[in-house]
Amino acid sequence: MTFRLPNKKLTYPCNAIVQQSVKPRRLAVSGRCRKLRLSEENRQRMASSGEEVSNKQLIFRDYVTGFPQESDMYVTTGTVKLKPLTGFGVSKVLDSRNPEFKEGDLVWGITGWEEYSLITNPQVLFKILHTDVPLSYYTGILGMPGLTAYAGFYEVSSPKKGENVFISAASGAVGQLVGQFAKPMGCYVVGSAGSKDKVDLLKNKLGFDEAFNYKEEHDLDAALKRCFPEGIDIYFENVGGKMLDAVLLNMRPHGRIAVCGMISQYNLDQPEGVHNLMSIIYKRVRLEGFGAPDYFPQHPKFLDIVLPYIREGKIKYIEDIVEGLEKGPGAFIGLFKGQNVGKQVVVVARE
Ligand SMILES: NC(=O)c1ccc[n+]([C@@H]2O[C@H](COP(=O)([O-])OP(=O)(O)OC[C@H]3O[C@@H](n4cnc5c(N)ncnc54)[C@H](OP(=O)(O)O)[C@@H]3O)[C@@H](O)[C@H]2O)c1
Repeated sequence: MTFRLPNKKLTYPCNAIVQQSVKPRRLAVSGRCRKLRLSEENRQRMASSGEEVSNKQLIFRDYVTGFPQESDMYVTTGTVKLKPLTGFGVSKVLDSRNPEFKEGDLVWGITGWEEYSLITNPQVLFKILHTDVPLSYYTGILGMPGLTAYAGFYEVSSPKKGENVFISAASGAVGQLVGQFAKPMGCYVVGSAGSKDKVDLLKNKLGFDEAFNYKEEHDLDAALKRCFPEGIDIYFENVGGKMLDAVLLNMRPHGRIAVCGMISQYNLDQPEGVHNLMSIIYKRVRLEGFGAPDYFPQHPKFLDIVLPYIREGKIKYIEDIVEGLEKGPGAFIGLFKGQNVGKQVVVVARE
């Protein structure tokens, strides 16, 4: 069932939430959102489970194997029932049949890469209660990447005061936070990144003790021995492949490797092998993978810890913001080329 609004056409079932993607840095209320008013008559007419939305969406052209290209995706507007890409975003609720959410609520969580989304499964949506910080932070430091850094460092890595910590993809959405969590514990923190600018950022803005550009190091084992003459206690793994192999040679006895991601392997037809796994036995190393969703119940506790740090300026968060859904494909592909400096954010609408 479809019904018309001043400039939009929406059809949606009972129990659903309609939300608009917003990633503004500051909270403001949009005139456009206020226009969405549903009469009681229309509410009752929307009993069917039809779903049709006039919407701008980012779509994959076809099934993608191997390394995705920008041309694999396109932005379209229409009323077709194509599924857009999904990811974590910040949105405003325009209307809701779910008693937990009401019009005007700001939420973060899994949403479509599109202007308007119909959410029938709100389990992965969280209300935003603190709006004195940039809303875009809920895609990064206050959202999934922040929780990932928190859980991976404090829960999985079992850090102790003064330990030696190494982080790969250290200037990314997650890595930049891990380093800033480790420093106040008196840890010696080193990060690797893929450009001189990122290395400078780590050392001069984010408080890392040392950093190196892995693309300029012919021998990663030697680079790690230079930075960690006494070895690594904690490796926060974001990249996998050759870096993991080199790290395994440099772990200290009873070291921990928190396996967060392996971005160097995601698009390979044939993943690289790891050769130095025997170090795990000799050095009694604990290597443990983890997933941020397992820690979602801890999000309120995480906010209590991190929000004061942000307000007091004790934690910095670097974002790389592009404007417009049309920039989505380029921004997405850029992650695999190291184009982003900090958390990549695509602004779909500002209010
Ligand atoms: N376990 C979880 O729940 C969870 C949650 C979130 C993220 N992750 C994973 O954690 C990792 C970091 O995510 P993020 O969001 O912080 O990263 P990000 O901000 O998306 O940045 C990705 C960075 O990875 C680096 N990179 C890309 N291709 C690479 C390659 N072939 N070799 C080495 N580095 C490469 C690039 O930085 P350089 O210029 O420095 O190379 C790029 O800027 C990813 O692997 C991601 O999939 C896991």
